[in-house]
Amino acid sequence: MSVLERYEPLVDDVDAFRAACERPLPSAVRVNTIKTTVSRAREALDAENIAYEPAAWHSGVLRLPDDQPGANWPYVHGWLHGQEEVSALPARVLDPQPGERVWDACAAPGSKTTQLAALMNDTGRVVATDNNLGRLSALRSNTERLGVTNVAVTREDARHHSLKPFGNESYDRVLVDVPCSCEGTMRKNPDVLEEWTFDHVKGVAGVQRKILKRAIEVTREGGTVVYSTCTFAPEENEAVLDDALEEHHCRLREFEIGLDSAPGITEWQDETFDDSMTRTKRIYPHHNDTGGFFCAKLEVTG
Ligand SMILES: C[S@@+](CC[C@H](N)C(=O)[O-])C[C@H]1O[C@@H](n2cnc3c(N)ncnc32)[C@H](O)[C@@H]1O
Repeated sequence: MSVLERYEPLVDDVDAFRAACERPLPSAVRVNTIKTTVSRAREALDAENIAYEPAAWHSGVLRLPDDQPGANWPYVHGWLHGQEEVSALPARVLDPQPGERVWDACAAPGSKTTQLAALMNDTGRVVATDNNLGRLSALRSNTERLGVTNVAVTREDARHHSLKPFGNESYDRVLVDVPCSCEGTMRKNPDVLEEWTFDHVKGVAGVQRKILKRAIEVTREGGTVVYSTCTFAPEENEAVLDDALEEHHCRLREFEIGLDSAPGITEWQDETFDDSMTRTKRIYPHHNDTGGFFCAKLEVTG
């Protein structure tokens, strides 16, 4: 059985799913509202004769037919940031407010960190953590190009994140965009399916559980944690959340996204998951012509 066949029983339209997985991924950019507005960015692209189509669910995400979204001056000046369309989802679901304290637990190379900063009007504080130095250097250069000033960077294992450098204050909101088996990125990087092993899925799920645990621990009561992956494997999605619901003080919240999606599942092979798992969202490539994605919104309850 191929990796994708594993998920066909979960998918509403298997032929459309297979066809979308085989097509290359459209390029997209996000408008950086710290440096410009959506209308000014669109005027700049018009002036450069660059074609674009705004995403229906997010006016600041523009689909570009050109394969090289970085080859234009609005991009170089930090008005635009190349970001897969569906990857702009979790920061919107987290919905950080100006002045809040936010932790981005697995942050590099910073597409979502810089989006969080823009949603906060570059105020408050985003602590951006990653354990990979090379990827953190890409994050730093992205924050500089995009003119972000409210980000503090830490290189550490998110499972052991320390609040000490930040006055031991808990966070209002945390984004947990975990390392995963990346099955949903196959349109950009077909090698992920060649390199897939079940051992890796099981191993990375252990890391995901511990990062999510730390995220819930460091969020204030009533605060929000968003958990996201770019993979289909229930072992890395619903199973991780099901354990969190059982072991930590949190509950799943409903949310709207304006994109087509399927609800999270409550059964997989010989496992069953909490009924509230239907509040999570599975996004398959044929739903919106994007990569595959999973997103859940948790409220910390104590
Ligand atoms: C899905 S990527 C994050 C993408 C990022 N949120 C963005 O939008 O640009 C997952 C990240 O987790 C990092 N990572 C893996 N294990 C980690 C750990 N134990 N602690 C912190 N970061 C980790 C990887 O280096 C990688 O950059």
